Amino acid sequence: MATIDASITSAKPGRAADWLGRAATFCYLAIAAGQLLFVAFILLHYYPPTLSGNFAEWNDKPVITGFVAGDSAGNLFFAVHVLMAAVLTFGGLVQLIPAIRNRWPVLHRWNGRLYLVSALTLALGGLWMTWGRGSWLNLVGAFGITLDALLILVFAALTWRTARARRFVEHRRWAIRLFAVASAVWFMRVGYMAWGMATGGAGIGRAMDGPFDMVLAFGNSLLPLAIAELYLRTGARGTPAARQGVAALLVVSGVIILGGSAGAWMAMWGPYI
Ligand code: HEM
Repeated sequence: MATIDASITSAKPGRAADWLGRAATFCYLAIAAGQLLFVAFILLHYYPPTLSGNFAEWNDKPVITGFVAGDSAGNLFFAVHVLMAAVLTFGGLVQLIPAIRNRWPVLHRWNGRLYLVSALTLALGGLWMTWGRGSWLNLVGAFGITLDALLILVFAALTWRTARARRFVEHRRWAIRLFAVASAVWFMRVGYMAWGMATGGAGIGRAMDGPFDMVLAFGNSLLPLAIAELYLRTGARGTPAARQGVAALLVVSGVIILGGSAGAWMAMWGPYI
């Protein structure tokens, strides 16, 4: 695990690079802890009713649409969506571990294919549930998640294309960008909890239509993407000061993610398993 940074940046030797590497490892571990909690929630809350056909149990937790009697297509899309959500979230964490890439390249390739297929399924199925089924609370939120779906589709295509062409430096960059935007749905939940705990819920509207909701509607994908981009750029050719600055940003992000994930488990996920 300690070599995560060395493989996802072209880190130069030196103290600033060391700090950037350690900070990236810490941030990854914080993300992994938070995403594993999300996976545990999906496996324990959604998998049993979905696999046994008791779809009505989805609605034990507040959802916008969930199970609707007679809506076979909508229920099927929801079922596939929640099943693939765990595959994508777990698979993304596995793809980023360099030891797995180096020691078991076949596993990396097959898990990578599965990750891309689940990303396409979630993005296209999510778009249909949003605009075809009408599962949205307000238009800004619907446009925000639509932007995320489009970014997933474009970045997935570029991740695939660069891997096929064996352009591995570029492949790694597109894969990290894809991971950032494919984590947006998880990040939004963690972001709500972190913000809610820090401010008491300032700017969060009753129908998720307050100023904070509007910012997070687009920030859920654009903020992780911006941090990933800063990390990639400073890792490749940043000055020592820039590397230290980005290292500090990654540490702060990791701490916020740990707090938000613990809050999400206690308030959003844990009570429904
Ligand atoms: C790519 C990663 C994604 C993951 C891991 C994910 C995960 C989930 C999960 C776990 C649910 C169940 C509701 C809950 O308990 O929170 C859900 C519902 C939903 N997702 Fe996604 N999703 C992803 C992407 C998307 C995208 C890109 C869209 C839209 C374009 C989308 C649209 C929806 C909709 C409309 C629902 C139903 C909401 C409801 O009825 O309450 N999802 N998603």
